[in-house]
Amino acid sequence: MSSLEILKERFRERFDARPEVIAVAPGRVEVVGNHTDYNLGSVIGAAIDRYVYVGLRRVDEPVFRFSSSGFHVVTVDDSSSRQSGKSSWVNYPLGVYNSLIRRGLKPSGGFEMAVESNVPSGAGLSSSAALELAAAKAFCEAYGLELGLDELAIASREAENEFVGVPCGILDQGVSALGKSGHLVHIDCRELKFSVIPLGESYSIWIFNTHKKHSLVESLYSERNKECMRAVESFKKTGLEIESLSELSSSEFEDARSSLDPVVGRRAEHVVREIERVERVRELLERGEVVEAGRLLFASHASSRDLFENSVEELDYLVDILESMPGVLGARLSGGGFGGAAMALTGESFTMDYAQSVASAYRGRFGQSPELLQCQVADGARIVEVAGVKTERIESPLG
Ligand code: GLA
Repeated sequence: MSSLEILKERFRERFDARPEVIAVAPGRVEVVGNHTDYNLGSVIGAAIDRYVYVGLRRVDEPVFRFSSSGFHVVTVDDSSSRQSGKSSWVNYPLGVYNSLIRRGLKPSGGFEMAVESNVPSGAGLSSSAALELAAAKAFCEAYGLELGLDELAIASREAENEFVGVPCGILDQGVSALGKSGHLVHIDCRELKFSVIPLGESYSIWIFNTHKKHSLVESLYSERNKECMRAVESFKKTGLEIESLSELSSSEFEDARSSLDPVVGRRAEHVVREIERVERVRELLERGEVVEAGRLLFASHASSRDLFENSVEELDYLVDILESMPGVLGARLSGGGFGGAAMALTGESFTMDYAQSVASAYRGRFGQSPELLQCQVADGARIVEVAGVKTERIESPLG
């Protein structure tokens, strides 16, 4: 059964009704731009053909019910109150609902929502951002609110920062919202400008998920965030008028770096040079020079490993063997780091046999195979069904 059918079935079972509207939003892969988003630099990502589905129906009574596989129905009376414990997953759609109310959505009564996902969780593919964007599209359709996808990305990120309480940048929401088949999404995180760069249909993105996760991953993420902010503060004390690391070129950075503590200096160097790499990748892709662009993905990984120090042995190993494989244009850790997945951008000559040989080398070294996923670059958040009528077909290996 496809994810869409499962969703409808569950909606019927739990709520004895049909959703008024069904929306989907894709998971995302960070292609290049590691920890550049909250430093107000730029980043490039790809939406992938794995989706979160949200079915929604408005109801008269002011009660909000949520159902997702593996969870009991969560019932909320006050839509502005944050949930905790096992119910905390509903903070993603609830946070988005509140962000949209601030942008003009007129609440009336309550709603019922069912969620189904084929975005593997824990692989760094941002299933939470996909849930936020699918919910945002569904709310807008059901409540008649017209907002552009860029505004939905911004509203969803606001929900994640303020309602859920995660200090992430705009990458995940921006890519899940504005993804386009055969294209990568470029985000200027200072101006909040989203654009697409043509990639071509013959490339795949592979995910090698190590299933390793540092136990302190959340606090390490915010520690890195704080180290970057500390670099900005130190520079300001020496008279540099900047508000973010994105305002420095690498030569300006080198001229000023002696005022930084060495660890903070390494973090900042990574960010400043990574932002320049993102722009270089963008220029190369715009000229169709995918091979040269791919090389910069390896350079990005080396910088995360040596300067930002958010890689782990398992990811370094994967990236090293991927670099020696035919058809691999680039590979690197993708997302926050400290475990998770490595991504590879590949041409047609990289086949499942090669992917499996990477996995078996990894198993030889670490005793366990990584999970393999071959993904196509896909479209972003959209409505797929209104009042039982299909408005769009979903191309996904899982339906
Ligand atoms: C996570 C965050 C993103 C971004 C990346 C690192 O995926 O959610 O906002 O900061 O880490 O680049």
